[in-house]
Amino acid sequence: MNKIKSIIVAGLGITIGLMSCDSGEIRRSPGHIYAPDMTYSRAYDAYTSNPNFADSQTSRLPVTGTIARGHMMPDHLKEGDTTAYKTYTTSLRFNADEMKEGGRLFNIYCAICHGPNLDGQGPLFSSGKFASMPANFKDAKYTHMPVGQMYAAVKYGKNMMGSYASQLDSRQRWMVIAYIKKVQSENGGDAFIFGEGAAPAAPKADTTAKPAMTMVAALPAPSATIPVMAAVPVAKPAATKSKPAAKHNSHGNSMESN
Ligand code: HEC
Repeated sequence: MNKIKSIIVAGLGITIGLMSCDSGEIRRSPGHIYAPDMTYSRAYDAYTSNPNFADSQTSRLPVTGTIARGHMMPDHLKEGDTTAYKTYTTSLRFNADEMKEGGRLFNIYCAICHGPNLDGQGPLFSSGKFASMPANFKDAKYTHMPVGQMYAAVKYGKNMMGSYASQLDSRQRWMVIAYIKKVQSENGGDAFIFGEGAAPAAPKADTTAKPAMTMVAALPAPSATIPVMAAVPVAKPAATKSKPAAKHNSHGNSMESN
């Protein structure tokens, strides 16, 4: 008898318990909050509206003309201007690690079509799932292709190939192209020019190197007590002409020079 009683009591308890879980209404209030200013941010969250700006957006665009630290100057190419593509180049030069990184990026983004051996036989194409033959970088048609044209293909896409501009920043695009050019140079292509220590390309490099130098010169005099400043190579006016920014390019804090 006692046993039956306790089973009934337990059953009732469970039923009431379950019923109270689902009261049929949707609860919108979280109840008591232990630390409200952690639950409700005092700062404006990204993507929320904001009465402080005319466009009501909290997320702001970078100030016009600014470049994020570690990023390169804009390339000023215009989509479709194929003449400009062909002469566009870079003074970036890459060390062995950066070349390896170029190969890694190629294998992530390009090899699926262009093939890990750069012969256009990537798995997407050879499986028949992608109808358009990707460029065979070992073919004479591509071994002498101007680097700027390759850069444009990555930035804007080419026919069936989509743009990789959002996946690869300018420097990464050049790393990938350097990797392709390296393999091509070993397969009858032009001499490899992206190696560290190679002469920087194009005397044109100076034109964008100058604003960089002016910026540096405009900073307060370097002081040994501020390590960041000490690390900035301050150009002497005499050195400006003969030394383009190639050296600090290779360290990534990069001013594109062309
Ligand atoms: C989805 C497949 C696909 C992927 C991924 C792909 N490509 Fe292509 N790519 C193509 C095809 C197809 C062509 C041939 C376009 C044409 O000439 O019609 C091509 C052409 C090119 C060309 C020659 C452009 C020219 O002007 O003829 C270059 C350079 C190139 N790709 C580089 C790359 C690089 C670098 C990557 C990786 C960042 C990449 N591609 C990723 C499919 C792809």
